[in-house]
Amino acid sequence: MNAPDTPSPFRAEPDLDESQSDLPTLLEDDEVSQAQFVAWFRAVAPYVHAFKRRVFVVAFGGEAVLAGRLTRICEDLALLRALGIRVVVVHGSRPQIEEQLRLRQIESQFVKGIRITDGAALECAKEAAGEIRLDIEAAFSQGLANTPMWNADIKVLSGNFITAKPVGVVDGVDFQSTGVVRKVSSEVIQLALAARAVVLISPLGFSPTGEAFNLDMEDVAASVAAALHAEKLLFLTETPGIVDAQHELIRELSTLSASRLLDSGVLPTDTAHYLKHALRAIGAGVPRAHLVPFALDGCALLEIFTHDGVGTMIAADDLEELREATVDDVGGILKLIEPLEADGTLVKRGRGRIEREIEYFSVIEHDARLFGCAALYAFPNEKMGELACLTVSPDAQGMGDGEKLLKRIEQRARAMGLEALFVLTTRTAHWFLKRGFVVAGVDSLPKDRQRMYNWSRKSQVLLKRI
Ligand SMILES: CC(C)(COP(=O)(O)OP(=O)(O)OC[C@H]1O[C@@H](n2cnc3c(N)ncnc32)[C@H](O)[C@@H]1OP(=O)(O)O)[C@@H](O)C(=O)NCCC(=O)NCCS
Repeated sequence: MNAPDTPSPFRAEPDLDESQSDLPTLLEDDEVSQAQFVAWFRAVAPYVHAFKRRVFVVAFGGEAVLAGRLTRICEDLALLRALGIRVVVVHGSRPQIEEQLRLRQIESQFVKGIRITDGAALECAKEAAGEIRLDIEAAFSQGLANTPMWNADIKVLSGNFITAKPVGVVDGVDFQSTGVVRKVSSEVIQLALAARAVVLISPLGFSPTGEAFNLDMEDVAASVAAALHAEKLLFLTETPGIVDAQHELIRELSTLSASRLLDSGVLPTDTAHYLKHALRAIGAGVPRAHLVPFALDGCALLEIFTHDGVGTMIAADDLEELREATVDDVGGILKLIEPLEADGTLVKRGRGRIEREIEYFSVIEHDARLFGCAALYAFPNEKMGELACLTVSPDAQGMGDGEKLLKRIEQRARAMGLEALFVLTTRTAHWFLKRGFVVAGVDSLPKDRQRMYNWSRKSQVLLKRI
């Protein structure tokens, strides 16, 4: 709740100098923004419920600090904590170490992209990490009225949570004080998180012999996420997520596709490095990892609380196969949709039409049985596509297959250059509204589709920009 003398961040305060003649417009604007605010807040609620008490590891390099993003990032992470999410922050310090070395006129030494940390470089790493740690603690300590940190009261805990071991001598090269993570003190970190602290971890670790080691931020973040059985690992990156050959952002990748992409060698070095560690965390049981560009204000909030996110999400593969349909699937599709055609949920299509239009369909298969299908009918002139026949077998409903099919159809539509997806439905409007569709009129459909609209069915038209 806002302090009595603090202007609400959500409500536009009326300007007392406005002329009376503007009053009706102001009231209408107020009503629209109130309705938008309530709709937005309610849309976020399911995520808030789902993520309560879950651990999120949020990692960013020293580049984010250099770019002046620290205050905003910490404000957003403070909000996550306020919503009951357990936040672990891992920071890097590469550019700051470079700067320290430059000031001391020491040349950096890298072999295969890994820094050789000699005595001087280790001092620089300690200094850089110490400075960033203090900056992060300061950012979490803000509490000025009129900022998102008002009343936040966040305590940041850090410590010797990472046990490290040396990289050692590889191919005759001694990496000296460059280390890798050996163990994470997960129990202590969990206690700190349960006490509502934000846990902050620097890219330094210590060996049982009392030596300090300079670590790779991505290695630390992935190891911490794995050890804490985190719900999510978020890398806030200087790159814009993962893009395809057409420079389009890939919003979602399965671990299988991500590994193939990594092996293909087409990714920029930085992106590949993030992805490698994201895959390692997922392999160790973290369900989802995200690469989100820190240049976008509110990137973490947008990625976590909006349906489509703003970066690339890498999700563990399941045993199901989501793929485009072939003629061999016609029987399986008919079996899925016939009961729904019979009860009027879907329009009757018949075997002949499905055979002709089979390439419009995507299906989900498990153990040689189809559990779901959906079709995309493109209207290229209007850059629109119709999602049709979305069906999940009754014994598999409620497990996310509907959502996966929707995402696949959205992906296919984007790849075809379409900009909006529409669906005509008589019974499932709420399912689509929850997934970013809005109610639209028949006149918003492509002309050809308007002519085919069946007025007696009274289907609702729902539209989504993709
Ligand atoms: C709509 C449908 C495809 C969803 O598939 P699914 O795999 O169950 O979907 P998901 O697992 O991704 O989502 C399940 C959620 O949707 C909700 N849901 C299912 N049917 C719904 C409906 N008709 N209206 C509103 N919400 C619905 C479930 O209650 C569940 O909610 P929860 O996550 O809060 O528990 C599936 O229910 C279905 O095949 N329905 C019959 C065919 C149909 O209506 N198709 C649409 C034609 S336009």
